Amino acid sequence: MALVPCRLSRPYNGRKLMLASITCICFLWFYLSFNQSYTSYTSLRAPWDAHDSAGPAPDSVPQDTSSEQWLQKATDIFDDAPLDSAAIREVCAKTEWNANLTFTCNNSGGGVGNQRNSILNCLRYAISAGASMTMPRMILRNPANIADIWNRERISFDYLFDEPHFVESLRLSCPQLHILKELESNDSSPIFVTPEKLSEEITPEGIDHPEEWRERFYGWLSNATDVQKPVVDLDRSYLQYPIYSDPEAFALDFGKVLKFRQDTRVVATTTLRNLVQKFDLHGDFRSPIWNHTFFGVHLRTERDSQQGWPPSLYEYSKYETQSTNYLKQAAASGTTVMYVASGNVQEIARFAEDARAYNLSVTTKHQLLEGADKEKLEAFTFDQQALVDYLVLLKSSDFAGVGHSSFAWNIALWRHQLARQRDHLNGPQLMSDELSQVYGTVRQYLEYACCLWP
Ligand SMILES: *[C@@H]1O[C@H](CO)[C@@H](O)[C@H](O)[C@H]1NC(C)=O
Ligand SMILES: *[C@@H]1O[C@H](CO)[C@@H](O)[C@H](O)[C@H]1NC(C)=O
Ligand SMILES: *[C@@H]1O[C@H](CO)[C@@H](O)[C@H](O)[C@H]1NC(C)=O
Ligand SMILES: *[C@@H]1O[C@H](CO)[C@@H](O)[C@H](O)[C@H]1NC(C)=O
Ligand SMILES: *[C@@H]1O[C@H](CO)[C@@H](O)[C@H](O)[C@H]1NC(C)=O
Ligand SMILES: *[C@@H]1O[C@H](CO)[C@@H](O)[C@H](O)[C@H]1NC(C)=O
Repeated sequence: MALVPCRLSRPYNGRKLMLASITCICFLWFYLSFNQSYTSYTSLRAPWDAHDSAGPAPDSVPQDTSSEQWLQKATDIFDDAPLDSAAIREVCAKTEWNANLTFTCNNSGGGVGNQRNSILNCLRYAISAGASMTMPRMILRNPANIADIWNRERISFDYLFDEPHFVESLRLSCPQLHILKELESNDSSPIFVTPEKLSEEITPEGIDHPEEWRERFYGWLSNATDVQKPVVDLDRSYLQYPIYSDPEAFALDFGKVLKFRQDTRVVATTTLRNLVQKFDLHGDFRSPIWNHTFFGVHLRTERDSQQGWPPSLYEYSKYETQSTNYLKQAAASGTTVMYVASGNVQEIARFAEDARAYNLSVTTKHQLLEGADKEKLEAFTFDQQALVDYLVLLKSSDFAGVGHSSFAWNIALWRHQLARQRDHLNGPQLMSDELSQVYGTVRQYLEYACCLWP
């Protein structure tokens, strides 16, 4: 029996996916356009995006130094090499490509979990159709009101993600796919479509027959336009693409085309280093998950979530429910320090107070960073700051979050690749393995398990 209960799922084989070894590679970046390949990529990069080739690369630290010394010297422990995926290459090689068709993906919005899923789905549909794709753009959340997410201006991909990494990963893993910097002025005007609407049925496990999507799309397109070179603007796409309809290796690799922007990775590295120092933690800091070090918590009680999931209706939206579960789990985990991620500063103070009864210390990125590092953090927007938390939480010995948060699911599902326990959706919580607990009613939110690319 497949352990992932999604329709079309292929069974987990328990294969461990280790992070690609961190390598500093100097690339020459190319964008491919319809007819020409142009523009040295380097010249298009924003200053913060440039590789710090003079700085110490993680792999320049001699291998015989302890991992503690390694961490002392590392500037960016999250600088993964571009994805080189045979599973994705195979799918792309089988695709019939259409140089006349371009997709734009400019409607992703919300927090990082939402953005990742929507951008990856758009890319998946572009591969299905054999289309070219412009660099995705995303909706910029209102900095003055975090619950104001939609109907707002667009911002470039590098607002959250590493653009050179995306381009190079796709060049290696899906060489037939053309990524365009932007539309040309003579391109036809985009036709908007919600990709899932082309399917007959959508269940919590995703659209029916993703393998028929291409045919349905071309049927729709021939009715929608007769221009020679159509441009199709895809709507936001969220939790409706059944990721296990592709081979498991594809599903697990795909999300790695997205790497967070460099400055957030550097701040996350500094945060972790300071955490280790402040609480005198010891462990193997080169490993993807840091055993016996700290407990990671995502306290999801920010204003946007309280509006979306009113605590009067959603038990797990309540502060009390989250904090009680998290503190019990932390006390049982044997760690004494908890790293808490939350966009709600008052609630963190309340949580630290409650943690005292369990003799647990609570800390945050704001407390761990000082001086220029803290200034860098504070210059980030709400969603950029969340990237720092996301990266820190990936490393925690044990993690806790709630089931109506794609942020928590993203972290837990990524960690699950490294867990031994495979029956993670059978309780006692919504998602349970020895590395993470996602709290909620068992089997309630199947769409996250079936449709969220880890
Ligand atoms: C692309 O358009 C050209 C005409 O502009 C046509 O000759 C060619 O067959 C089209 N290719 C596809 C895949 O539709
Ligand atoms: C979508 O993004 C592309 C690439 O950044 C850009 O060229 C295009 O004008 C955008 N389209 C819309 C409708 O915003
Ligand atoms: C736009 O112009 C370029 C070169 O000027 C040409 O190669 C391309 O085919 C044109 N695109 C369309 C949609 O006509
Ligand atoms: C195309 O339009 C025709 C006429 O309106 C309609 O009967 C047909 O179902 C449409 N096909 C698709 C794939 O939308
Ligand atoms: C973490 O520590 C536990 C208990 O000491 C051990 O059983 C487990 O194998 C370790 N996990 C990893 C990933 O090293
Ligand atoms: C917390 O620490 C104090 C003093 O070391 C001890 O008396 C108390 O029993 C501890 N409480 C818990 C819940 O471990």
